[in-house]
Amino acid sequence: MLWTSRGLSRSYSEPPDSKQPSSMQMITCVLFTLVTLHVSTAAEADSCPAVCECTEWKMHTISCRDIDILPRFPAGTETLWLFETRLTSVPADAFAYLVNISWIYISVDVTLQRLERHSFHSLKKITHIQIRNAQILTYIDPEAFKHLPNLKYLEIADHPYITEIPANSFRGITSDVLTV
Ligand SMILES: *[C@@H]1O[C@H](CO)[C@@H](O)[C@H](O)[C@H]1NC(C)=O
Repeated sequence: MLWTSRGLSRSYSEPPDSKQPSSMQMITCVLFTLVTLHVSTAAEADSCPAVCECTEWKMHTISCRDIDILPRFPAGTETLWLFETRLTSVPADAFAYLVNISWIYISVDVTLQRLERHSFHSLKKITHIQIRNAQILTYIDPEAFKHLPNLKYLEIADHPYITEIPANSFRGITSDVLTV
């Protein structure tokens, strides 16, 4: 018995023949490639835009300051803070690819003039939209906010040029969610 087990352990501790390492290396290499591919795909889909800050990404929160165009945000973004921006407009369907977006906050913009038809459109999980102090905002399309079934709070505040919101400005949005 003793001899057998020694014989076994000896045969295990013998250096493996030259073919084994290469197949092992191959497997390791394939695994590594798979892992790398997977990681880079995930990173691509969820990479932080260079102009933004993603330290709160665990909460799926991104904040961007001083941007003049909307960058491509990670698909999983839930909360978006845009401060001191220089956007000229919020294009149609600007956030439509953010399937889980629930909160959009735009504050202090010196160039934003227009909210277009469907600027905020078909965002199924959005609950809050706040646009504060867009200093030259002059036009809000009557269908700028549309198909936002879970919207609970819409605030558009501190805009010197929008002193009056025309009737039907927020078609499809009940007045109890609106603060102007
Ligand atoms: C959206 O949220 C759901 C539920 O939390 C999650 O399973 C899904 O992966 C999220 N989608 C993206 C693109 O992150």
